[in-house]
Amino acid sequence: MLGRDFTSILDVSPSELSGLLDLALGMKRDGTNQVLRGQALAMIFEKPSLRTRTSFEMAMHRLGGTGLYLSAHEVQMGEREPVKDVARVLSRMVQAIAARTFEHRTVLELARWADVPVVNALSDDEHPCQALADLLTLRERFGNLQGVRFAYIGDGNNVARSLAYASVMAGMHLVVASPEGYELPAETLERADALAGEGSVTQLTDPHEAVRDVAAVYTDVWASMGQEAEAAQRAEDFAGYQLNAELMASAPADALVMHDLPAHRGEEITDDMIESERSVVFDQAENRMHAQQAVLASILAG
Ligand code: CP
Ligand code: NVA
Repeated sequence: MLGRDFTSILDVSPSELSGLLDLALGMKRDGTNQVLRGQALAMIFEKPSLRTRTSFEMAMHRLGGTGLYLSAHEVQMGEREPVKDVARVLSRMVQAIAARTFEHRTVLELARWADVPVVNALSDDEHPCQALADLLTLRERFGNLQGVRFAYIGDGNNVARSLAYASVMAGMHLVVASPEGYELPAETLERADALAGEGSVTQLTDPHEAVRDVAAVYTDVWASMGQEAEAAQRAEDFAGYQLNAELMASAPADALVMHDLPAHRGEEITDDMIESERSVVFDQAENRMHAQQAVLASILAG
């Protein structure tokens, strides 16, 4: 179903995206077959992870294969040896590579030199596997994604970017609210517009306006991994953009609360919202595994 790499959510077409979600839902409902017996996925992480590492490792295990975790300290990509050598060495031993990097171009460089498929496990620019899991979570709740309107409040970051592309491909309406200077890049909005059939992405500054009439409200951290030095400034700049009861009072009473986790309770989201009955954050986390099973099976056994 997929081409060889999944470095961006834009590597799949709208119909492939829909097919991946169908496959993931089927695997979640019926369990998995051991279609990847004897195959291995090398997982290079330049940044920390709970969900991504565990979900890739368990996805490979459930499909009959193996996930090999390689830490930044171990590989020292670009320092101990060049990215292109890492790509070619791993290609001689494993059937696919997942990489969590700072610079997006590191994922692209791996893909350029590897003879095996490369999957983006989060870069500074994109988090495509997260977007798949998020759409899977919404599909479970609403059946059909077409026409579903939802809001993303906060930083126009990697998570927001992949979500924007995935949403328009699925025919959804994503309304983003960010403080000035933290909006989705103009290029992302243009590319999303170009992709949009029935769907749309709208960038606003007012979070209360963004959550009006939506089925779900999503947020992510204000300072992403690698932006720790900006955290204090960002906390000031993002004041007023917290996902809390007051903001949710502007949304429909049954609107869902979403977060990709890890969450900084008391910053971008309050504890009571994560713990509320409308919260689907742990469904999102579990769905990482089902979504990635679909990606890995499509890439390696499809
Ligand atoms: N949501 C997510 O990618 O979590 P981790 O950073 O723990 O992998
Ligand atoms: N935007 C966050 C997502 C973490 C899963 C980051 O890049 O740190």
